[in-house]
Amino acid sequence: MIPVTLHQLRVFQTVACHGSFTRAAEELFITQPTVSAQVKQLAQVVGMPLFEQIGKELYLTSVGRELFATCQEIFEQLDRFQMIVADLKGTKQGKLRLAVVTTAKYFVPRILGYFCQQYPQVDVALEVTNHQNITRRMLENQDDLYILSQPPEDILLCNEYLMDNPLVVVANKNHPLAAKRNIPIKSLNNEAFIMREKGSSTRQAVQQLFAKYKIVLKMRLELGSNEAIKQAIAGGLGISVLSEHTLYCKSSELELTTLDVQGFPIQRQWYISYLDGKQLSVIAQAFLKYIQEYTQKIGIISCPVASFVYNRRGEK
Ligand code: PGA
Repeated sequence: MIPVTLHQLRVFQTVACHGSFTRAAEELFITQPTVSAQVKQLAQVVGMPLFEQIGKELYLTSVGRELFATCQEIFEQLDRFQMIVADLKGTKQGKLRLAVVTTAKYFVPRILGYFCQQYPQVDVALEVTNHQNITRRMLENQDDLYILSQPPEDILLCNEYLMDNPLVVVANKNHPLAAKRNIPIKSLNNEAFIMREKGSSTRQAVQQLFAKYKIVLKMRLELGSNEAIKQAIAGGLGISVLSEHTLYCKSSELELTTLDVQGFPIQRQWYISYLDGKQLSVIAQAFLKYIQEYTQKIGIISCPVASFVYNRRGEK
């Protein structure tokens, strides 16, 4: 049995998560020399280096990666045990780790707020990122639950339907096509297009549809944020395809509209997913049930900037 303490493992795990001794020290409220000393002692016990520094970047060695995976399991088990104890005492207490794609940030924080009002002793860690990063987090078993549109097929997952997530063509209100109906998709051939970054599944869905109709996009700009894209459209830089849900927040102030283009909306659905075989904590189970019940209650989606209305199944 390797003589390590839980504290050493926690320090190591935090350094590995942030790729930085300084940030780990800040998070754990201890000094950086203490962090370094703990990691050094751990490496001595293991008998091999856990990190390697290349330039300014800190990387896990292969044994470091193994230890990191072990730490994730150990702390997950301990968290789960703590939650079971709290549950037996009649309270829900502990941490919920959630990672969601960028389009889901328009509804998940609000639902989390309601959930936390009901369970005030629950702490939440919410990561908002693109599809590619969510996939990486899944492979590293970093979170309890994931919300995304296109659950990866090469990872064994349990996927539960949550809501429809139609992708629509968004343009400036003064765009010449704004007043037209049933616009042929070929008309987009000549439009300056603002695209999400590589690794975004919105981008992938757009590229697939345009490839199907042989549309050659004039990509004017590539941006890693839906909000930045909305600002660029408002500034007249071009059009884009975004989740309709991104248009709920103050979009009317941004002078945006949706274009009625053939082939749109691209029908997508959000799923809440977790790794197959993962033992969900009491809190993760409670949240899963809560969000499913909540989204089932939501009826017609009426987009404030659209000139037409979609129902829950994304039909006009
Ligand atoms: P994205 O994902 O943030 O990677 O574009 C959007 C989605 O899955 O709905």
